[in-house]
Amino acid sequence: MRKPIIAGNWKMNKNRDEALQFIYNVNQNIPSSEFVESVICAQSIVLRDLVKRQGESLRIGAQNMHYLDNGAYTGEVSAPALENIGVKYVIIGHSERRAYYNETDADVNKKAHQAFLYNLTPIICCGESLEVRESGETNAYVKKQVVAALKGITAKLMKEVVIAYEPIWAIGTGRTATSEMANDTIKEIRNVIRGLYNDEVAEAVRIQYGGSVNPKNIDELLSMSDIDGALVGGASLDSESFLALVRAGVKK
Ligand code: 13P
Repeated sequence: MRKPIIAGNWKMNKNRDEALQFIYNVNQNIPSSEFVESVICAQSIVLRDLVKRQGESLRIGAQNMHYLDNGAYTGEVSAPALENIGVKYVIIGHSERRAYYNETDADVNKKAHQAFLYNLTPIICCGESLEVRESGETNAYVKKQVVAALKGITAKLMKEVVIAYEPIWAIGTGRTATSEMANDTIKEIRNVIRGLYNDEVAEAVRIQYGGSVNPKNIDELLSMSDIDGALVGGASLDSESFLALVRAGVKK
């Protein structure tokens, strides 16, 4: 009953020409949004060109934005500016932003509120380091991130939130969490949401897995009860590979 959502996070890859070629290739063959939601999150500089070519079945997202409307924040991108060009999604609190740009849980929460003010669907990221995983503290760590990120978000809006569980040790390493491991943590996240809201909200929220997802391992990941899609880095850069991931979403 939860529609699978497959999102590509291109990170700092692809110039305008490369991005347009990708969208051209994908738009020919993308499965209908009736069965799966497909999103590409690109660098800010190419968003406007991509949005012009976004159809019902492929939506465009940003990878970050500021939590304020405007101001003296050199180099930042605002939610109203994203909305103005037709962007529909925004990744918030990616572990790379937390690690390299010092984003805190409080920032992530402010950004989640800001996204809804400007009709952007937030894809809120959480996930533990290898050190946390090995110390057995994963559930507590991820719970803290999720509770902080969702502070003040109403039940109505919460149903629209997408959460991406991305264990840091699985990102770009080729080391995927086992499907059981990913599903267990995602179930735990759903329980946290149940505690904060209610059953209805918990069952409505989509929770993706991210970290070395590729066309070979996606079927198994999506076969799990609580994994509702994927947030994909490397394997989303090639149009055929991205289409294979989206097709796997259709089968869920
Ligand atoms: P990879 O799929 O390259 O491991 O990246 C995952 C990720 O960080 C998506 O946001």
